[in-house]
Amino acid sequence: MSELLRVEHLTKIFTSGLIGGYEIRAVDDVSFEVKPGEIVSLVGESGSGKTTVGKLILRLLTPTSGRILFEGEDITEFSKKRLKTDYYRKVQAVFQDPFASFNLLHEVDRAFDLVFSSFLPEVKGEEREEMINEALRNVGLNPSEVRGKYPHQLSGGQLQRILIARALLVKPKLLIADEAVSMLDASTRIDVLNLLGDFRDRYGTSVLFVTHDLALGYYISDSTIIMYRGTIAEMGDTERVFHNPLHPYTQMLLESVPDINVKWEFRGIEPEKEEGAVYSIQGCRYAPRCPKARDVCFKLRPKLIEVEKNHWVACHLYGGE
Ligand SMILES: Nc1ncnc2c1ncn2[C@@H]1O[C@H](COP(=O)(O)OP(=O)(O)O)[C@@H](O)[C@H]1O
Ligand SMILES: [Mg+2]
Repeated sequence: MSELLRVEHLTKIFTSGLIGGYEIRAVDDVSFEVKPGEIVSLVGESGSGKTTVGKLILRLLTPTSGRILFEGEDITEFSKKRLKTDYYRKVQAVFQDPFASFNLLHEVDRAFDLVFSSFLPEVKGEEREEMINEALRNVGLNPSEVRGKYPHQLSGGQLQRILIARALLVKPKLLIADEAVSMLDASTRIDVLNLLGDFRDRYGTSVLFVTHDLALGYYISDSTIIMYRGTIAEMGDTERVFHNPLHPYTQMLLESVPDINVKWEFRGIEPEKEEGAVYSIQGCRYAPRCPKARDVCFKLRPKLIEVEKNHWVACHLYGGE
């Protein structure tokens, strides 16, 4: 077993609960893996199911079906206690909005309380203070400039670094970073990305880097997964996916980019209004928008096939029936 995390046929269906309500297959038969020390970006426009995948891996949501294997064990079978005492020590997360993660009435240091009470109850006093300082220094913060401060006295970048310091304090095996740099200004963003890369180099921490920003994914990751409306369109080695995009969706995303260093953003595409319908399409979810769609694309879901080494695509142009 060479992977740290393996997601198999993961599916999450949300239902509106109303009569005549809709079903959204927010994550539909998604399989991928993350190796130890690997940075994998999960990229897709808004509504593609990225956050749901992250929440399922964090067990903040329960899958409708499928398995999530961490170090070979199915975490969907873990008890609450096992999750709290063991799993969350190995799997930590950082989310988009740093302000939302702090109690505005408390000094920012209090953010570390739960980590110590949950995972390091034996660490107290001086030793604890020094661990916090070291974690802060690891993310490029000067402890004396942030400790004892209230959230409103610090910038979003400083707060996000504190949250990253907290997540990394226990040296997790996997960090899930969901749009974790999206709210930061451009220079802070690159610093934080480099910091995640450094931490991976030093401690072998894997990162699942969830983003809607193609350029960030390209910059940071070893492997890239392109999601479209709950399904994986293409995935594999980052260089291959970006330099030899196979799926018409990936090609559409990249084709008008003149220079690899230009910021690749999704070009103002918003999910269609008839959400429920799109998420339950039988065939390829991209077929209604795809210039190369054929009959089969509307009828049959293409399977992910390995077209070249470590480069997978789910598209009828490449077989997969
Ligand atoms: N708790 C929920 N209840 C109902 N629908 C949800 C819920 N969470 C997410 N969804 C829907 O699932 C789809 C995928 O959402 P999400 O995972 O947040 O995508 P992303 O992070 O890629 O923007 C969206 O259509 C969203 O509206
Ligand atoms: Mg999201």
